[in-house]
Amino acid sequence: MQGLTNRALRSLFIEQVRPDVVFTEFVRVKASARKNISGNDRQEVTSSSGQVPLVVQLIGSDTEALLAAATTVQELGAAHLNINLGCPYGRMTGNACGGGMLRDPERLAPILQALRVAIHGSFSVKARAGFTEPAELFALLPLFESCGIDFLIIHPRTVKQRYAGQADHRLTAEVVRRTHLPVIANGDIFTAAEGHRVLAETRAAGLMLGRGAINDPFLFERLRGNAPSEIDVATRHAQLHAYLQALLVRYRNLFCGDQQVLCKMKEVLCQVRESATERPVRQLLRSRTLAQFVERLEIFFVGGQEEA
Ligand SMILES: Cc1cc2nc3c(=O)[nH]c(=O)nc-3n(C[C@H](O)[C@H](O)[C@H](O)COP(=O)(O)O)c2cc1C
Repeated sequence: MQGLTNRALRSLFIEQVRPDVVFTEFVRVKASARKNISGNDRQEVTSSSGQVPLVVQLIGSDTEALLAAATTVQELGAAHLNINLGCPYGRMTGNACGGGMLRDPERLAPILQALRVAIHGSFSVKARAGFTEPAELFALLPLFESCGIDFLIIHPRTVKQRYAGQADHRLTAEVVRRTHLPVIANGDIFTAAEGHRVLAETRAAGLMLGRGAINDPFLFERLRGNAPSEIDVATRHAQLHAYLQALLVRYRNLFCGDQQVLCKMKEVLCQVRESATERPVRQLLRSRTLAQFVERLEIFFVGGQEEA
């Protein structure tokens, strides 16, 4: 997830809850740039500890540039690549890319075919439920199959919907029925109960967790039955405190300067949305300096006194 699942956050998750697989933020592949992958993205790719498979996600629209990027990231050690066909935010690489590709099968087909040949390890697709309607996604399933995609991740909102409404996992179930490819269900899974329900109702091969995991890393363990699916407010506060503390240490190492660290911590906090933590999170988001943030973190979650 852009702005969130950087190498520091991934390493925390790997250490604490060991997801089966982790993904990079999308790597923008621009046709025009001389170096079509940024230096930071290169570091993201090489940061894998090897303990948990790292999937490198590319977003772009230019076949040659995507092929060059796939070659580069594989030379850097990437074994698993994914292409983003879901991002709703338009033209960030020059042409329509991400979710915009879902309405342009003629441009998409040669890209997927060429990438499949160039990618030696697994090659997956992350897609939304069409650009304007699910029929656009269903129509692409034969292409995904004929290209030899290894698995398909579905976030069942259309691109036009952006984040409005609910992820409609009846569409995920329909994709599972229509394809022999393994389908991973993604979208609006915030509790273990929701995850189990989505798995049962869609018969998907697995789940991808986004905002729900950023909100509560233990969601992975709750889904596995290794951590309680429900916890009281005091435990939730203690777990959030420990999570933010551990992340802060890592972010201080990765990012430069207090303001950047503060900004990146706030990006994570923006995804922590539940009534049990609403007040302290709101106060933390109002911190103007990192020192203030650190002080408030201790007061809110350890001292228990909140500012008026
Ligand atoms: C801040 C933010 C950044 C995201 N960045 C990416 C990204 O880089 N690649 C991607 O495939 N999806 C990205 N997404 C979409 C999520 O991966 C996911 O598909 C979507 O949020 C629905 O799943 P969730 O409800 O589990 O979060 C992003 C979503 C958000 C909110």
